[in-house]
Amino acid sequence: MRIENQRVLEVLPALEVRREAGVSLADMTSLGIGGRTDLLRIERHESIPDLLALLDEEGIAHMFLGGGSNLLVADGELPFVALQLGHKEPDVVIEGNIAFVEAAADLGRMVTYCAKQNLGGMEGLIGVPGSVGGALRMNAGAYGIEIGTYVREIKVYRAATRKIGMLQGDEISFEYRHTSFAPDDMMLAVKLELPSKPYTEILQGIRICNEKRRASQPLGQKSAGCIFRNPPGGSAGRMIDELGLKGHSVGDARVSDRHANFFVNAGKASAREMLALIADVRGRVEKSFGVTLENEVVVWNA
Ligand code: EPU
Repeated sequence: MRIENQRVLEVLPALEVRREAGVSLADMTSLGIGGRTDLLRIERHESIPDLLALLDEEGIAHMFLGGGSNLLVADGELPFVALQLGHKEPDVVIEGNIAFVEAAADLGRMVTYCAKQNLGGMEGLIGVPGSVGGALRMNAGAYGIEIGTYVREIKVYRAATRKIGMLQGDEISFEYRHTSFAPDDMMLAVKLELPSKPYTEILQGIRICNEKRRASQPLGQKSAGCIFRNPPGGSAGRMIDELGLKGHSVGDARVSDRHANFFVNAGKASAREMLALIADVRGRVEKSFGVTLENEVVVWNA
């Protein structure tokens, strides 16, 4: 969607919102799939209520974009604009065992930065791509560690109240790849409390997780991580693998040869192909195992 509304175009600079016209979301997502739209980069958190009120008044649909690493975006000209937080520096500030982190910060870099200050606990998250905001929204986890464990406070824009507010960690429920945030809540910043650990020890934990990940996941390829959530007590990857579906493809959308719950863009896959592959694999698993797999990847349909 290209913004042509003059009132909106005139107000954006005053709100410190930068517009990039006709951006390809394929270039902003780890899957390398997605159509075009205007991207609005928000340089000041406090502008968000006014920006969203303006977009609503003018009937401009919008979606919040984080790091784009767990996202499948529809093809073609998109019927909504994308909103993304601009980067602020410094994006991590440490005080004792507390890390104040901007939601736009890169998750892996945040983990490394804290490690260098002898703050650990998040070793398993080092190879999880994406932004801190995205990790918070879906309680990203790996190797027995979830980010929610360390959250003490979150600064969030809540669409329901149209206000920016602070939520205490215990006001949010963090579950397996799920949180109690509404889909239109926007994470802005977080206060994490982390255990003290010597850097060398943290580094060792990071190395072990990296090795496990390299051995089992297709890291060099375009993917959105795991496509499906694991069903309770089960493993989506193992079920898909048992059906002999590694390498199975629809066009350039392909089940990874390395990990069957990773679907990769092996060339110029379209969203339509990736969605067809997801539906096909879901159907086969349902038929053979009687289990309906739920998406872990977030889908933005047009
Ligand atoms: N397995 C197979 N074949 C495969 C893939 C896995 O047989 O193609 C088997 C493995 O041998 C293992 C079991 O399935 O016995 C589980 O596999 P794995 O250890 O790789 O973990 P996972 O449950 O598939 C989860 C997360 C990953 C996270 C890893 C490591 C989900 C959906 N996935 O994968 O997270 O990196 O554990 O902690 O929870 C993601 O969220 O995008 C993601 C990649």
